[in-house]
Amino acid sequence: MTASPQPVEPFDLVIFGGTGDLAVRKLLPALFHRFLDGQIPAGSRIIGIAREALDDDGYRGSLRSALVEAGGAQAKVEEFLGQVGYRPLDARKDEGWDSFAALISEQPEHVRVFYLSTSPELFVDICNRLGSYGLNRGQSRVVLEKPIGRDLASANQINDAVGRVFDESQTFRIDHYLGKETVQNLLALRFGNALFEPLWNAGHIDHVQITVAETLGVGRRGAYYDRAGALRDMVQNHILQLLCMVAMEPPASLTPDAVRDEKLKVLRSLRPIDESNAAQFTVRGQYRAGAAEGQGVPGYLEELEGGKSHTETFVALKAEIENWRWAGVPFYLRTGKRLPERVSEIVVVFKAVPHSIFGASAGPLAQNRLVLRLQPDEGVKLWLTIKHPGPGGLRLRHVPLDMSFAEAFGVSQPDAYERLLLDVVRGNPTLFMRRDEVEAAWQWADPILAAWAASGEAPRPYTAGTWGPSAAVALIERDGRTWDEDSE
Ligand code: BG6
Repeated sequence: MTASPQPVEPFDLVIFGGTGDLAVRKLLPALFHRFLDGQIPAGSRIIGIAREALDDDGYRGSLRSALVEAGGAQAKVEEFLGQVGYRPLDARKDEGWDSFAALISEQPEHVRVFYLSTSPELFVDICNRLGSYGLNRGQSRVVLEKPIGRDLASANQINDAVGRVFDESQTFRIDHYLGKETVQNLLALRFGNALFEPLWNAGHIDHVQITVAETLGVGRRGAYYDRAGALRDMVQNHILQLLCMVAMEPPASLTPDAVRDEKLKVLRSLRPIDESNAAQFTVRGQYRAGAAEGQGVPGYLEELEGGKSHTETFVALKAEIENWRWAGVPFYLRTGKRLPERVSEIVVVFKAVPHSIFGASAGPLAQNRLVLRLQPDEGVKLWLTIKHPGPGGLRLRHVPLDMSFAEAFGVSQPDAYERLLLDVVRGNPTLFMRRDEVEAAWQWADPILAAWAASGEAPRPYTAGTWGPSAAVALIERDGRTWDEDSE
């Protein structure tokens, strides 16, 4: 039996940065999908905010093609757009805020969600105005898109300023990786089955790999990306959150703080990487011209208007968690732009059997691997050793128990934002980052960034369309292991 989705109260969702890439490509299509599933109650309002001088119709027109592409019939697109409006506002000027406040106040009973999909430099101004125009009333919530700052100090400034207007319980720091189906499935897999938890420790797990590979380059996001780099853009948030979900102790329940307390303990147990060991445990790369999906593509520096940059577009790291469960188990993490394929995967590699009874003719005994595929082709594979069928001696093979979610459930997977947006409306912060988590993640990331800056070295070049610099291969091979690139 499948559980039906929980009902949602009528709400107002205000998207600051409403004309931006994230809003148009992700947030509005996600809301549209929820609308198609009947989860946007009648009377709910979605309001885009940006500086552009648009009216409701102009804004709707700018969304239409993205919504049609998201798979809706024209009539449904129009019905949905009937719930969408627009207000031109500048976070740094008062003009228009009175009338915006009046519009929001028309529905005092509605849950109010203010989604800040803008550059983090504007978070403080927006929250201050939301406060001074009396918009933090009743059931109001604020959603902060990553990145929250660019280091611990700037994250603290943002969190302090937001905290002067909204309580922590009203603040939803989004990390869309936590909304991906496979990540939530990790909870189900680990804590809904008796099989894994007894083996989920240094006694039985050899190492863990987390890869988030993208084929795209930075394209038009260069201005943002060049100030961020792969460590701030992907590792400090998405990849550390995945690591926490793999490594945390079983929470006593799924209540938000039970889960977040456990994740925080993992972040606080990460072994520091600083000037003393960064060269040993980290590899930075930057792509040069090469190929992506059969096409020639420019290098990172050519894409940047300015030309010169030490920003990393690739990073590989060997992380360790210093606690009883994980002592001595490396977590190899890597992410990069312009890699050969778009794939995000968590691979848990179990220890080899202590002794082979099969003899040399049976072939080598591979280690069991549990592969959680986040995208594309979401699913779980458990690689096992079995006997090759038929006579001819006992020959062994390594094959996966393979569960593709699309095949098993016959539905395409919802985008992460669909789940998370409705969690905000329902007021469920379990899959959002608490302030102390963000701080602990920066506490770990800051010394790495400082070590790189102090070294003065440029990132290692890699050709677009390859798996990063060869040093990233050496990082894991030095330990007698290899990156898992053949788990098809
Ligand atoms: C974003 C990063 O948070 O995640 C982008 O800023 C990255 O640089 C994106 O491309 C990847 O998300 P997804 O869901 O496509 O894997």
